[in-house]
This record gives sequence, C-alpha cells and structure tokens, in this order.
Amino acid sequence: MCGIVGYVGSPVASARPLDVVLEGLRRLEYRGYDSAGVALVGPEHELATAKKAGKLANLVEEIDHHPLPDATAAIGHTRWATHGGPTDVNAHPHVAGRLAVIHNGIVENFAVLKAELLAAGVEFTSETDTEVAAHLISRAYDETGDLTAAMAQVARTLDGTFTLLAVHADDPATVVGARHDSPLVVGLGEGENFLGSDVAAFIAHTREALELGQDQVVTITPDAVVVTGFDGTPAAARRFTVDWDAAAAEKGGFRSFMDKEIHDQPHAVADTLLGRTDVQGRLVLDEVRIDEALLRAVDKIVVVACGTAAYAGHVAKYAIEHWCRIPVEVELAHEFRYRDPVVDERTLVVAVSQSGETMDTLMAVRHAREQGAQVLAIVNTHGSTIPRESDAVLYTHAGPEIAVASTKAFLAQITAAYLLGLYLAQLRGNMYADEVAAILGELRAIPDKIQQVLDRAGRVREIARWMADTQSVLFLGRHVGFPVAMEGALKLKELAYIHAEGFAAGELKHGPIALIEPGQPVFVVVPSPRGRHSLHSKVVSNIQEIRARGARTLVIAEDGDEAVRPFADEVFYVPQTPTLLAPLLTVVPLQIFACELATAKGLDVDQPRNLAKSVTVE
Ligand code: F6R
Repeated sequence: MCGIVGYVGSPVASARPLDVVLEGLRRLEYRGYDSAGVALVGPEHELATAKKAGKLANLVEEIDHHPLPDATAAIGHTRWATHGGPTDVNAHPHVAGRLAVIHNGIVENFAVLKAELLAAGVEFTSETDTEVAAHLISRAYDETGDLTAAMAQVARTLDGTFTLLAVHADDPATVVGARHDSPLVVGLGEGENFLGSDVAAFIAHTREALELGQDQVVTITPDAVVVTGFDGTPAAARRFTVDWDAAAAEKGGFRSFMDKEIHDQPHAVADTLLGRTDVQGRLVLDEVRIDEALLRAVDKIVVVACGTAAYAGHVAKYAIEHWCRIPVEVELAHEFRYRDPVVDERTLVVAVSQSGETMDTLMAVRHAREQGAQVLAIVNTHGSTIPRESDAVLYTHAGPEIAVASTKAFLAQITAAYLLGLYLAQLRGNMYADEVAAILGELRAIPDKIQQVLDRAGRVREIARWMADTQSVLFLGRHVGFPVAMEGALKLKELAYIHAEGFAAGELKHGPIALIEPGQPVFVVVPSPRGRHSLHSKVVSNIQEIRARGARTLVIAEDGDEAVRPFADEVFYVPQTPTLLAPLLTVVPLQIFACELATAKGLDVDQPRNLAKSVTVE
C-alpha cells in the first residue's frame, strides 16, 4: 500500500532530489497507483508540490509542463486510496502552511482530530485522513520550531497505522519520518540520505540500509541520520546490506515484470536452497533460532498467511504432516486473528509473507506471540516488520518481486516450507539422514525442471491467447494439486479479471459439477501415476466425469503419463518429480496461462486494477 520516498542531499551530491524521488516512485509504483505526488524544499526556503491522480506517468507529464524549482530535499508518494477517492486533490503530499506531508496507512482517530481542527478554524482542502496529520505537524512546528519534535509530538496522538514523512520550507536540508505499524527504511549514502517504504526506493543509489523499529522517528540530513522513539529518547536501528542490486528490479528485456519474475523462478528456488546444507549435505537452518527443545516439543503447527502465501502454506501442510507427523493447520491470517484460536507454547506458528508487511499477517503474529506460541516467519523482504516481530525468520531468496501478483515468491515460499519440514523431521527423528538427503537432492533438481517447463511454454501461451474472450475457467486438483488449482484460479482472477474458481477434484460431485456445461474450460492438475498411493486414477475419473458433460479439459500431467491423453483436449506436460514437490512445477503453466491471457486482453499484468503489492491495512 502506498509507496513513500524521501531524499536529502548536499549541494555536491550528484543527484537532483526530484530525479531521485521520481526514480524511487517508479520502483515503488507497485505499492499503489491511484495517484502520485512530490514536494520539494529548496535553498531559498520555498516549498513546491506537484500531484496528479492516476499512474506516475501523469505526474511526470504534469512536471514536464510545469517544471519545479531546484531543491535540497524532496518527498514523493504513490497512493493506494483509503480515505477519499483517487483524485488530484486527495493525492499526497498534503500541505499545511509551509509544510508538506505524505502518509502510508490509516489514521483511525482522524474524525475526532479533524473536528478539533475545524473548531479551531483550520480549513481543509481534501477528504483524506493525512491532511489532519499535516495540519497537526505544522501547528506543532509553529510552537517548537523543530520538525523532529513536531513529528514526535503528533505521532503520539495518532491512532491507527502510519508512516509519515514531512518537509518544511524553513528547514530545507531535512526530511523527518515516523512509523507505527507501517514500513519505513533508511538508505545510507555519502553526503545524501534516503527514506523509503522499502529498499527498492533507493536501490539505484545505495545498498546500505537501516531498519527502523516500531514507534520511531527518523531525521535525515545530508550527513546524518538520527533515530529516536516517539518520546524523543535516542533509539537504535539495525543496519543491513541489501543482497540484490538495481538490475534485479528492472524488467531485463521482458515485456512485463510478471513475465520476468515467472522466468526468474529457477533462480528463486535455487537461491532459497543455497547455503542451507553443511559439507556433509546435512540440512542446517541456522536462522531458525528457536530452542531445539521447544521445536521437539511442538505438538501443532499453524500456518498464517493471506492469498498466494496462504496457498504456499497449504502445500506446506501436506509435506510437513507427511514428513514430521505434526498436525498442521493453515489459516487466513485475518480469520485466525479474530476467532480466539487455540494456540499455546507448544504451537509453532509459521507466518508466510513475501512483503513481510501484510498487516493481517502481522496482527496474527502478534496475537500468536501473546498466546505464548513460537513464531517463525518465512519472508522475502529484508528490513520488513514481520521478521522483526517474530522469534525467528527463514528468508526466501526470490529477489525483489515487483509485479503485484505473486509468482516467484510463491515458489520460494514453498521451497522454504519444505526446508522447514525436513529440518523438523531431522531434528525430531522422523526421518533418517539419507531420506532427508534424497529429498534435498530432488529439490536441487527442481530449478532445471522449472526451466524445462518455461522452455516448453509455447503451447500454453498459444491456448491462452485463443481464450482471451473466455468468461469463466475452473481449476481442479487433489492433494498438493488442490492449492495449485486455487493459486491458478487466483492468478487468472487478478491478472485477467476472469471469473475463476479452484476446487478439490474430489469435491466436484458434491456441488461444483453443476457449473459444467458444454465448452466450459477446466484445468486439471493430475498427480503422478507413480507411487503406491497415487491419486492418479481418481483424478482421471474426475476428468472423465466433466468431459462427459461437455467440459473442455486442459490437463497438467507429468512426462510419460499417456493415460490422460484420451480424456484431455490439451495436455501440458511437466518433468517427473516426487508428488510432494510437484507444485513447484505444476503451477508454472497456470501462471503463464494467466499472464499471457491478460496480456492478450491488453491488460497491465504488473499493476492489476484495485490491487496493491503490500497490504498494510487490515
Ligand atoms: C496474489 C498475491 C497476494 C499476496 C497476499 C499476501 O498474487 O500476491 O494474494 O500473496 O496479499 O502478501 P504477502 O505475501 O506480502 O504477505
């Protein structure tokens, strides 16, 4: 939700503040694209702003027509609207006197604060909660003459979630930020410093960063970064180095970030496996800093996550229960948080999140810890909030995921969950070392197999283009194929705006089969026919049942599975792999299908309507 950038540089710094901020906004636009705006303060103590509804390109055009003066500090914002529609007036920054403010989050007590300000004669120009904060900080500055103190004073009075950045024309070499339940990181430069919702905001300039803690205020000037608590006392922030560079956040010749990220998947899986075994090939997860005795005593695992990350959790359930014999529940984080769940000190809660900022998941983490559970986060984004508030974190190494809909992070999450399952099985003695090693070997073979799926994707792309006018697509799967079916449906809904549903194939005859009519396209994820307990024949029966009713069957099956051919209108083959690992391959044609079909419809696959990458409001 909302992307935020702040920059301050000395006159000798190479970059122009406006260019730095626009570049940062370009990289953050995936966080929201309802409007964009900038505010600049310059050496002559002037404040200049520009803002425009719609995508960043509209703002850039506006600035081209009405150039802004030179500046020493700048802030910029790309918005996902909460309070007030996506209009020019509601776009950030919001100005009060000689001060400009941008905001990510929701000020929950804004109505009360606004009523007080109105009673004091303050005039409002927008419908946003942010403008309240702007007036409050401006008034506090008028009293104190100190932007940092003014920000801290106001931060103490606000309820809800917020990252706020402010610049004041009287103090043109300073940007002040505050954060409460909303992300903010600092980029450290030479004679210049940066603020951003995430490191993408400044990755073109520096990889050295500071992770702010909860309820902290940060003041950046060209040569200093000062962090305090909301009460003004000095506070510490953790320093880290970003492990990817600006090139990783570019399209690299692909027509969209989504296309690029689908093609990045062999690396996402390989990098997530990297460095997690010792010289003897034993799985070593040093990051899981939870007492081994506690992990041995765990009697239940609860995975909390949302959307695609929750489907990764569903895959994890099949694997972890099978390998570790521990019951695993998977729950949408927003449902878990508010239903009085039964968790205690013997529960391991696994929070899965690409962004590490999803508010629903963060709230579930806090609730679980309050109940005494150990929380392990599986997260992709360094410097984010969920890892900091968890007992331990297992990072996925998918690199930056820019397209709003998740693809490579999904595969990396599943991979990390497999590692966790194998680690617990090894620790608790459920599996012998050679069994763990054999599965690790199979996992290491997966990146090449994903590459094969990508290399063979021509047919699935062709079919997707033919189906651009389709109104509805169903997805069926069983066992680990069930979450894959749900993920395939979600990708199609969000990218192509087509009605799509994923079902457990066994559930078909309990209701959904009524949806089947002649010509209805149905994707079916077919399990491997190998293995003693294969569900292959049952799924093939399901295919026959829908085919008999006129469905058009699009089947994902493993190489060598000839038995499906007579019942399939199309078969997309993927390389053979053990059943539990198959989602890392079978989901790929479904991602490509959704991306290609949406592209054929002329839609923006990187920034689907109404969505934002990082959902930092509940
Ligand atoms: C779908 C998608 C979302 C996210 C969900 C959780 O393509 O991207 O469903 O998976 O919003 O986000 P994270 O993983 O950042 O917690």
